[in-house]
Amino acid sequence: MAQPPTPAGDGPDGLATSTTDWPTPDGLGSTPQTAVPADEQLAPAVREVIDRLRDERWTVGVIGLGYVGLPLAVAASQRGLDVIGFDIDDAKVAAVSAGHSHVGDVDDDTLKAAVHAGARFTTDQQQLSEADAILVAVPSPLGRNRQPDLSFIEAAAATITRVARPGQLISLESTTYPGTTEDHLLPAVQAAGLTLDTDVFVTFSPERVDPGNELTTSSIPKVVGGVTPTSTAVGVAAYLRLVDTVHPVSTARAAELTKLLENTYRAVNIAMVNELTHVADTFGIDIWEVIDAAASKPFGFQPFYPGPGVGGHCIPLDPQFLAWRARELRTPTRFIDLAEDVNVHMPDYVVGRVTRLLNDVGTAVSRARILGVGAAYKRDVGDDRESPAIDVLRLLRSAGATVTVFDPHVPPDQLARHGFDIVDDLTAAADHDLAIVLTDHRSIDFAELAEHAPRVFDTRGVYRRLGLHPSTVHHL
Ligand SMILES: NC(=O)c1ccc[n+]([C@@H]2O[C@H](COP(=O)([O-])OP(=O)(O)OC[C@H]3O[C@@H](n4cnc5c(N)ncnc54)[C@H](O)[C@@H]3O)[C@@H](O)[C@H]2O)c1
Repeated sequence: MAQPPTPAGDGPDGLATSTTDWPTPDGLGSTPQTAVPADEQLAPAVREVIDRLRDERWTVGVIGLGYVGLPLAVAASQRGLDVIGFDIDDAKVAAVSAGHSHVGDVDDDTLKAAVHAGARFTTDQQQLSEADAILVAVPSPLGRNRQPDLSFIEAAAATITRVARPGQLISLESTTYPGTTEDHLLPAVQAAGLTLDTDVFVTFSPERVDPGNELTTSSIPKVVGGVTPTSTAVGVAAYLRLVDTVHPVSTARAAELTKLLENTYRAVNIAMVNELTHVADTFGIDIWEVIDAAASKPFGFQPFYPGPGVGGHCIPLDPQFLAWRARELRTPTRFIDLAEDVNVHMPDYVVGRVTRLLNDVGTAVSRARILGVGAAYKRDVGDDRESPAIDVLRLLRSAGATVTVFDPHVPPDQLARHGFDIVDDLTAAADHDLAIVLTDHRSIDFAELAEHAPRVFDTRGVYRRLGLHPSTVHHL
C-alpha cells in the first residue's frame, strides 16, 4: 500500500527527503534524491572541503546586507560560524556594525549579539577572501522595460573574481532566471584562475525569507543546486550548517526555476481569485464566503484571497524574470502574462468599487476625503516598495479625492515621499467620507477604525477574519 509522502526534513542529517517520491493518482512522478553524490564518489580533496564545512568552525562571507543578506549573516553567526558581511553602502555598514538593524526581522539585540560574537561588516571586499563560502544576496530588480537588471549580480561577480581563492564555495541567492549562475557567476570564478570542482564550487540557493512572519532563516528549508553534482555536494554541506533542512536539486538551473515556480504559483493563484472577485461581484455573491466554503474541502484546494493587487519585490517581479527569458527562447508564458494583467489592474478595480460606494451615499469621489489605512505591501512590514496600496491611493488622488494615510509600520519620511498627508491616530477617520483598508497590520485596532469612520471599504477581508460585522463596513 502506498505510504503518504515523508515531510521534508525527516531525512538523515536534515537532508530533505523527496516529498514526491511515491506514486500518486494524479500521476505525479517519483523524483528520487540522486542530486547529491555520495561521499565515496567524490575526490579526496573535495571530501576534505566537505569535512571541514561539516565539522569545523568556518567563515561565511555575505555580499549585500539587505533584507536577505543581513538575516543570513546573523543566522550564520547564531550557528557558531564566523561572518564577514560586505556591502557597498557605507552608511549601512556603519549602522549594522554599531548594532543598528534596518531589517524588521533582525532586532538590534540579535544583531549586537552577532557583532559581539565576532561578525564583521565591511566595505572592504578584499576581506571576503578569508571566507570559506561566499553567499551573494544583492538586488536583482527589473529595468525600465521590465527586463532583468543583472548589473548588481555582475558587480558582485566582479568582486568574486577579485577575492576568490581555492577551497571556496560561491553561492548565488538573488532571484533570477535559469542559467544566471552558470552564465554569470561561473565565468567570474574561472576568471580568477580557479578550476571548478577542484579549487572552487558554485551553487544557486534561492532565498525564502518571509518578512513580518515568524519563520526564521534557519527554520525555512533551503533548496540548493550546483552547476555540477560535486558543487551540489559542497553546497549542501555548507548550507546544512546554516539551516535545519536542505533540499538538493540536480542543477543550479533547477534551483533557479524553483524560486520562480514558488512565486509564479502565488501570482497566478492570487490573480485567479482577484478575477473571481469581479465575477462574484457581478453575480452579487460574497467572494470571501465562497472561498471559506471551498476551503472546508480537506483535500485539493488551497485558499488564496483577493486584495488591492500584488506588491513587494517578489511576487510582482519574479515571474517576469521567467517570462523575459522564456520570450528570448520563444517559449510562451501565458499564465504569467495573464496573472500580471489581472493583478496590475486590481487598483483600478478597487477605485471603481470605492467610487460606487461613495455614489451610493451621494458623494462624488472628486470631492471625497479618503483615509488610506495601511500603505505597506503586506501585513506587519514597513516596506511600501511596489505596494498596491500606494497605487490605489494615487489613483484616488488623481480622481480628485483628498487622501490621507495611516500606517504605523511605514516610516513617516518614507510615506511623505508620495505626497500624502499622514495621520497617526485613527480618530482622524471621523473627518473623512471613507476609510479604505489596504494593509491589515495586526497592530491596527480595526474595531476603533469602524467606530470613527462613517464607512469603511475593506480590501483585505480583515473584518470578516476578526469576526467584526459593523453595518458601515463593506468589503471587496
Ligand atoms: N526581500 C525579500 O523579501 C526577498 C525574498 C526572497 C528573495 N529576495 C531576493 O534577494 C535579493 C536581495 O534582495 P534584498 O531584498 O535583500 O535587497 P536589498 O535592496 O534589501 O539589499 C541588497 C543590498 O545589496 C547591497 N549591494 C548592492 N550592490 C552590491 C555590490 N555590488 N556589492 C555588495 N553589496 C551590494 C545594497 O547596498 C543593499 O544593502 C534579490 O534578488 C531579491 O529578489 C528578496
